[in-house]
Amino acid sequence: MSKNYKIAVLPGDGTGPEVVAEGIKVLNATAEKYGFGLTYEYFDWGGDRYLETGNVLPDDAGETLKKFDAVFLGAIGHPDVKPGILEKGILLKLRFDLDQYINLRPVKLYPGVETPIAGKTPADIDYVVVRENTGGLYTGIGGFTMKGTQDEVAVQSMVYNRKQVERCIRFAFEQAEKRHSKEFPWKGLSEQDIAEDKYSQLTLCGKTNVLTYVFDLWERVFYEVAEDFPHVKTDYCHVDATCMWMVKNPEWFDVIVTCNMFGDIITDLGAMTQGGMGIAAGGNVNPNGVSMFEPIGGSAPKYTGQGVINPLAAVSAGAMMLDFLGEADAAKDIEASVAVITGDKLDSMAAGRMGYSTSEVGDLVVENL
Ligand code: IPM
Ligand code: MN
Repeated sequence: MSKNYKIAVLPGDGTGPEVVAEGIKVLNATAEKYGFGLTYEYFDWGGDRYLETGNVLPDDAGETLKKFDAVFLGAIGHPDVKPGILEKGILLKLRFDLDQYINLRPVKLYPGVETPIAGKTPADIDYVVVRENTGGLYTGIGGFTMKGTQDEVAVQSMVYNRKQVERCIRFAFEQAEKRHSKEFPWKGLSEQDIAEDKYSQLTLCGKTNVLTYVFDLWERVFYEVAEDFPHVKTDYCHVDATCMWMVKNPEWFDVIVTCNMFGDIITDLGAMTQGGMGIAAGGNVNPNGVSMFEPIGGSAPKYTGQGVINPLAAVSAGAMMLDFLGEADAAKDIEASVAVITGDKLDSMAAGRMGYSTSEVGDLVVENL
């Protein structure tokens, strides 16, 4: 019997619904080709609903979503809602409620896509960032004393326990192992690495020279877990240096693992190097639960309803979702189709300058499957 996956769809705000529609168009075409089923249920959570009802998210939203196989998200963010309310109330709340402890962000330059880094090609920019997604500075532990006075103090703590660090690092090693094999080792390895039977590389991005407690823990756990992954070469880079190399020598990276806050920052840098927000996708992953996939570009409200926004990030998010549902071939097919149309069709990745409308881009991906 062929499989059927239940997907919760959160189109969200601004251009979210437009890109989600193209993502679903591609998902449906892929499902037909590969013989599995997809059924969708839509939820109107987002800025408009909040402005109408004063309610950001139903109390049982997390419980509701747990009944699905995956969540497909458009974008959260509304020009009439104070920044922070929807981000915290929807996106972060769902990450926590569904224990999506990994944020997975492929940084991949597709053919034909312009990168701001001179001289770099798709062969140079192709790595994955594994960002811890529910701990660290995002835990929200902290507070004020003497607020509003000259003596006031604000504290916000980077909190990690060993379990959180370990499960994230282990996931990152698994990702590294999955990306390469003895037959297809990562191209950045030296002859000596190959002789040592390494296939992949995992870089811990931290700040051991200053954050001497939190990253001491990360570093110890990193090398402990590494023992279980003999084919993954380990590497370490401070976060500031990581930013330098992501720009100067992105080909040095295969998989990067880092904490929540650093991951937030470096993945936006990574997104820019791969051609911007029109193309960058991400997944909020709970490997044992319900994961949520999204284009990372935001709601881009000024383009709403014009049919000019680039849907490829949403399309790629859909591919990531299929991969996590166990439909790896279908996912690869979508990615290959995206590569064909970035390479041969689109003039630019930017909204309004693609040479095609949002829905035409979705059609092109379907035609090239
Ligand atoms: C992201 C976003 C979120 C984050 C915001 C919207 C809360 O920037 O997914 O990277 O900081 O994690
Ligand atoms: Mn971010």
